[in-house]
Parts: sequence; structure tokens; C-alpha cells
Amino acid sequence: MAIENLITTQPRTPLIAASILSADFARMGAEARAALEAGADLLHLDVMDGHFVGNLTMGPDMCRGLSRSLPGALLDVHLMVRTPAAYVEPFAAAGAGHLTFHIEAAPEPASLAGEIRAAGMTAGLAINPSTDVTRIMPFVQHVDLVLVMSVEPGFAGQEFMVSVLETVGRIKPVLGVGQRLQIDGGINAETAQAARDAGCDCLVAASAIFGAAEYAPAIAALRGGHVPQGDVEWP
Ligand code: DX5
Ligand code: ZN
Repeated sequence: MAIENLITTQPRTPLIAASILSADFARMGAEARAALEAGADLLHLDVMDGHFVGNLTMGPDMCRGLSRSLPGALLDVHLMVRTPAAYVEPFAAAGAGHLTFHIEAAPEPASLAGEIRAAGMTAGLAINPSTDVTRIMPFVQHVDLVLVMSVEPGFAGQEFMVSVLETVGRIKPVLGVGQRLQIDGGINAETAQAARDAGCDCLVAASAIFGAAEYAPAIAALRGGHVPQGDVEWP
């Protein structure tokens, strides 16, 4: 069964991407399922290589495991690695539906986006808070999603950097129908509203979901209080 790619199909807005970085790694399958059943649209996998960022997290095997246990889930992989091109095939083979790479690590963003799409995934281009927005502008047309980092990447639980809303405001007008504007870092009910108001239609959250006592109200709060109708059940 093909997985509907919510990134390019017509909105459900905003999409909520649950970053499993703050989940209990000893119970990952159950945690991921619980987030989806609580209303998350995507599972966001933060891949860190110890070079592009100091931290080390997960790789294709985590993606493969989640894809096997939750075959209907859209796996949104965020590569924070120095050599993103090396991971296109491994993540495609591991069941990723979407792959985002950083402009700071990609000498040829347009061709890398093409490789990601040719491998059957949607492509995303990320920018760090300290990187000049003009660097990504020439490549925005080649991707399905632009990810604006609202913390310096590396760890969950950092504070939202309000200054990136200006970057969001610069990028939003150049995006077409079917392109998503994702924001990642320090998203909670309050900052989610600021991000939505600025035009973001895909919100990543780790601590605000997995740090909450109950995931469904936490996710509903990120959407602005809108609770989707009906129970979600993952096979
Ligand atoms: C940071 C990661 C984020 C992180 C978000 O480098 O890219 O996805 O998990 O964590 P919170 O939502 O806790 O800021
Ligand atoms: Zn991320």
C-alpha cells in the first residue's frame, strides 16, 4: 500500500510532525504509535552525525524499524549530517517518505533534491538560524518543503528563537501551492501560534509532545486547539 505523502497532498494545515528525539528510546515503537494515535501527522526523525552537529542520534535502522511497525506512517527524516548525499539511498530503502537536508551541508542542493525525488521521497531544504536566507532562495523551487530551524540544531528542549520569524516571512511568499514551510525547535503551544501566524504549515515538536503527560491535548494545542474528528487507529 502506498503511503499518502501529506507533504504534497492538499492541506491538512498545520501538519504536526512529532520528533521522536524526546521519546523514550526504550519504548520507541509504542511511543511513535501513541503520537500518531494522538493526532500527529508525521514522525520526524532527527539524524545527527557528530560532525554537522556535535550530537549523535539515529540512522536508517531506526527508520526501518518504525516503517515495519507502523507501515502507514509518513517518516520525515531530518538529516543533520555533513554528507547528506550519502544517505539518500539508505533512507529510501529504510522506508522514509520525506528527506530534508541542510543548505549548509549541500554544495549542489538542486541536484541532491532531484536525487531524493528520484528515490521516491519528497525533498526538503533546511536553513539554520545563523545562515543568511539569501543562500536558500535560488533552490526553494526545487523542493517540496523548506525547513526553518528555530534553534541551532543538535538537541531537543532549546528555546525558540523569535528572530527566525523574519526568515519565515521572507520565504513564505516565494512558496507555491503544494510546498510546505516547516519550523523546528522550541515549538510549544505559544510559539506554534506565532509560527502559524507567520505562515508555517508544518510544525515539528519533540519536548512539547513527548514531555507532556498526555499527547493528544498537547498536539491539539500545537494546532491551535483544533482537535481532528474521529479516533485515529494505526494498524
Ligand atoms: C533539533 C532537532 C529538533 C528537535 C526539536 O536539532 O532538529 O527536531 O528534536 O526539539 P524541541 O521540540 O524539544 O525543541
Ligand atoms: Zn528536526
